[in-house]
Amino acid sequence: MNSADCEHVRAFMHERTGVVLEPAKDYLIEARFQTLAHREKLASPDALVAGLRTDPEGDLARKVIDALLLGETSFFRDGHPFEALHREILPELRTARLADRKLRVWCGASSSGQEPFSVLMTLAEHCPELLQWDLELLSTDLCLDALERARAGRFTQLEVNRGLSPELLLKYFTRDTAEWEFRADLRQRVDFREVNLVREWPGMEPFDLILLRNVLSYFDVETKQSVLARARELLRPGGFLVLGAAEKVANLVEGFETVVFDKTTCYRRWLD
Ligand SMILES: C[S@@+](CC[C@H](N)C(=O)[O-])C[C@H]1O[C@@H](n2cnc3c(N)ncnc32)[C@H](O)[C@@H]1O
Repeated sequence: MNSADCEHVRAFMHERTGVVLEPAKDYLIEARFQTLAHREKLASPDALVAGLRTDPEGDLARKVIDALLLGETSFFRDGHPFEALHREILPELRTARLADRKLRVWCGASSSGQEPFSVLMTLAEHCPELLQWDLELLSTDLCLDALERARAGRFTQLEVNRGLSPELLLKYFTRDTAEWEFRADLRQRVDFREVNLVREWPGMEPFDLILLRNVLSYFDVETKQSVLARARELLRPGGFLVLGAAEKVANLVEGFETVVFDKTTCYRRWLD
């Protein structure tokens, strides 16, 4: 692939997904195009770029998006945000929502499901009564392949080794041949849907808790601002936003109070 082709792919990804791919990562584009061209029985990555130029809205373009999104994730990623969840955030929300016993949680950009399933295990371990409430857990991503894996709730040994204690593994997963399957009764509580954070967010009702972790760092400042402003509008007053460890609201949007729980910084929508 020549530099003009790589530039075209970077511009395409930015327009369709908001993701900024630096020229220094052109090797990644080439490697993923190599694999995808082979899978699609195309002669070369160049043929893939040609297809993308001819039909930027077609099936092939969708496969390019899936191939270039980075879905790195793990169970209980970073650990401490899940401590904050069960020690501080969930108890506060439980008090706030006690009257109608309704709780709505959104994991945006949730990749292959480790994050919403970690939220569910946190609820089951520490606030099991909330599972008896009218609980809605929406889990979204743009990557169709990641969504399909999340819906199946199946994980390799390598994946369950990342972040799960042996106790949680045996309590919430069953072994099926070479993979581990997350408990169906909990898995069915998650509504997995395709949502592109840089397009319309259709059919969204207000949430008490939004996790938007480790995705804003792929976006430019304007995109971060727009996504955060829309997330704020979707949060109930007093609701919480949790971002990735390296991601901040500061200087991007107004209307959030910064709340620090031990090692976790999160954001509460102002009561207005
Ligand atoms: C690094 S993973 C983070 C997964 C999980 N939130 C975590 O913290 O472990 C980033 C995810 O963002 C998704 N993503 C990137 N751009 C997106 C967009 N415009 N809309 C929705 N999801 C997007 C990717 O598909 C990927 O699954």
